[in-house]
Amino acid sequence: MPVMEASAGEMSRRLGRGINIGNALDAPDAPGVRLAARHLELVRAAGFDTVRLPVKWSARAGAEAPYAIDGAFFGQVDRAVGLALERGLNVVLNVHHYDELHEDVGGQSARFLGLWRQVAERYADRPDRLYLELLNEPRPPMTAGDWNGLLAEALAVVRASNPRRMVIVGSAEMSDVGALPELVLPDSDDRLIVTAHYYHPFAFTHQGAAWTPGSDRWTGTTWGTDADRAAVRADLDAAAAWAREHDRPLFVGEFGAYERADLDSRARWTAFVRSELERHGIGWCYWEFGTDFGAFDQSRGAWREPLLRALLGG
Ligand code: BGC
Repeated sequence: MPVMEASAGEMSRRLGRGINIGNALDAPDAPGVRLAARHLELVRAAGFDTVRLPVKWSARAGAEAPYAIDGAFFGQVDRAVGLALERGLNVVLNVHHYDELHEDVGGQSARFLGLWRQVAERYADRPDRLYLELLNEPRPPMTAGDWNGLLAEALAVVRASNPRRMVIVGSAEMSDVGALPELVLPDSDDRLIVTAHYYHPFAFTHQGAAWTPGSDRWTGTTWGTDADRAAVRADLDAAAAWAREHDRPLFVGEFGAYERADLDSRARWTAFVRSELERHGIGWCYWEFGTDFGAFDQSRGAWREPLLRALLGG
């Protein structure tokens, strides 16, 4: 008897509660987290369902066709994926920090597709708990038009080896929730999950962030008034409405507040965003595990309890 395939909506619901292992395989230089089995054990034991594994493939592949991905690096990613799957976690594997692609779509798209051909073939036999996400935060100068065209091509490349695997796609404009209307997906593909990222209000979540010019002015911004809550609710209601209208499941693959914000405000914001997402039945992954947004404090070898409670508490 044929095994019934879970629908895209069901596959999206299964993502449940997750966490990004950021600044590990996506790190441009020295990783902030050297991913080890114990990290995945901690994540599983805490009660998360999913890990998102951001990967900077573009730093580990040839510049010319066939854009071969470094074998040792592929081995590291294999190991991370295997460790997570073996522990019963779902895995979202993406292409992260492909800066040259955002800067020069015309010059880099063949390479982007070449990377996806290799990655998709490599993991084609893994269980359906492995989800593939095409590109983290497509951003200008790449336009929505560029991205909508390229994502269809990348999807075709993935489908050649993974006809039924769930593929996750976000919109241009950094996949911000507000940019969902920019996204155009191939109608014929019913194995897609749309992703959006949530960092509003940005002056709160990115206060003092070194990579955000002018963000030092925002330090001391707190969060938690009624108006603050109403604004978050309105954003997430609009995102949920977009998903319903377009009949696509939605997954919030990143949300989090940087360490320079006060911990009480971070915990309040995190708990509120999470509860709003869950009210809408939207799965999520917190940004991130163990560095500058970290729910886990590597120096103490312990979770930051207020953040962990905000994410997984009753
Ligand atoms: C980036 C990180 C950044 C985070 C929040 C992620 O997509 O990869 O470098 O810390 O967003 O801005």
